[in-house]
Amino acid sequence: MRSDSVLIPEEEMARQRDLALEVKALPHRPRSYFVVTYGCQMNAHDSEKIAGMLEEMGLLPAPRREEADFVIFNTCCIRENAERKALGNVAWLKEIKRQRPEMMIAVCGCMAQEPGMAERLLKQYRFVDLIFGTSNLYRLPELLLSRLNAGAPLVAVDDADTLPEGVPVRRLRHDAAYLTIMYGCNNFCSYCIVPYVRGRERSRREEDILREAEALAAAGVREIMLLGQNVNSYGLDSAGKPLFPSLLRRLDQVGIERIRFMTSHPKDLSNDLIAAMAESAHVLPQFHLPVQSGSDPILLRMNRHYTRSQYLDRVRKLRAAIPGIGLSTDMIVAFPGETEADFEETLSLVSEVRYDSAFTFVYSPRTGTKAASFPDQIPPEIAKDRITRLIALQEALQRETLSRFLNQEEELLVESVSRRSEEAVSGKGRHGISITLPGGAEDIGKILRCRIVKVKNNTLIGERIP
Ligand code: SAH
Ligand code: SF4
Ligand code: F3S
Repeated sequence: MRSDSVLIPEEEMARQRDLALEVKALPHRPRSYFVVTYGCQMNAHDSEKIAGMLEEMGLLPAPRREEADFVIFNTCCIRENAERKALGNVAWLKEIKRQRPEMMIAVCGCMAQEPGMAERLLKQYRFVDLIFGTSNLYRLPELLLSRLNAGAPLVAVDDADTLPEGVPVRRLRHDAAYLTIMYGCNNFCSYCIVPYVRGRERSRREEDILREAEALAAAGVREIMLLGQNVNSYGLDSAGKPLFPSLLRRLDQVGIERIRFMTSHPKDLSNDLIAAMAESAHVLPQFHLPVQSGSDPILLRMNRHYTRSQYLDRVRKLRAAIPGIGLSTDMIVAFPGETEADFEETLSLVSEVRYDSAFTFVYSPRTGTKAASFPDQIPPEIAKDRITRLIALQEALQRETLSRFLNQEEELLVESVSRRSEEAVSGKGRHGISITLPGGAEDIGKILRCRIVKVKNNTLIGERIP
């Protein structure tokens, strides 16, 4: 059994900060670090916390993993290939460590939290120094100190549903920031490993979230991305906590120009949330609404708790309340038992909705999930054929869908100099779609107005408007 969800007491967080200073004072501690991140935004933000804690311990970022004294693999296990990639990269470092025995290696994140994985790592990856799960992330100062003093591999993986406040964060971007509002997931979609590796849902207190948002605004952050496996169920785990729409209304007042969120479960998308978005000044007109499949029997076996028609109804309501809203989704093909007819229902849903973008995946069985033991697993050649057809359809429709932006005004927060040209910059528009326009490094972090002049694959090309 899991222990109850637990807010880590302030004294424990203070103890971790003290231990960080203790590490800092050690003569034989690592001096530099490199974090390798896999997976979703949750993991990206966890890596910012890892970096924040390591910098409190006096470590500095290394330019390359081969040169770092301490390499941390923050792993993902959502699909088998994510896991294979992480393990392959850990193994690759073994040779480097042979040449530089003082190098320390940690494996953490969702894969480390998978049942049986820590034992497997200890046996097959003996050069790994430290293994810790998602629930123990905030204990990194204590774990690193113990490992440095013990001289033997250390494992800290347990099932506790922790809720730590005040972990230091080293943000990768200065203009945009992640802000976690809830951890874990209670949905147990039959294919998904996340509830097993991230624990039960637990929502942060509204005052903690608002305080963090205010601090980010004061630091000049212009965009926040609220994070949770299912932000729509924020607060549902505890009576008396405000729910997501009211949290959004409060955040809208904080003075941050752009507010986005990730991810939403269609079953919990309320009319009130749609209203809160429509009323707000700063919540951007975009929505990531994973559908997974267009077929009712498959949705039922996926344990998604909505039907195709309920999903389509949500989409209609979103579009009616927020005209032009940017819509994206996730879809899985070749779920066990998916017939050609089921798959065609997914194709027809895609044609009906017309998403601005879609992440498409081939079903990957995950040990311990319900669907892994379902009969009628789909052969790889059929899966490959289906994903190819789905991608082709989405790409063809996307061109048309995105052309609604032609000659329209948009606004983007410039994220980087374009990969293709030094005289172009790119970032996300208000609708969540990438925009490229003429510019240079001096524009990074600025919000620029533009007119869309061209659609190129999944990107909009803009011209500046003064
Ligand atoms: N909490 C988010 C999803 C997190 S995982 C949500 O519910 O929307 C991101 C996506 O990975 C999922 O939406 C799903 O499409 C895909 N995914 C999850 N488990 C998978 C599996 N076993 N095989 C293939 N794709 C999977
Ligand atoms: Fe996984 Fe479903 Fe939870 Fe998303 S809602 S994390 S797909 S179990
Ligand atoms: Fe992967 Fe964990 Fe995210 S399994 S997708 S990193 S929650």
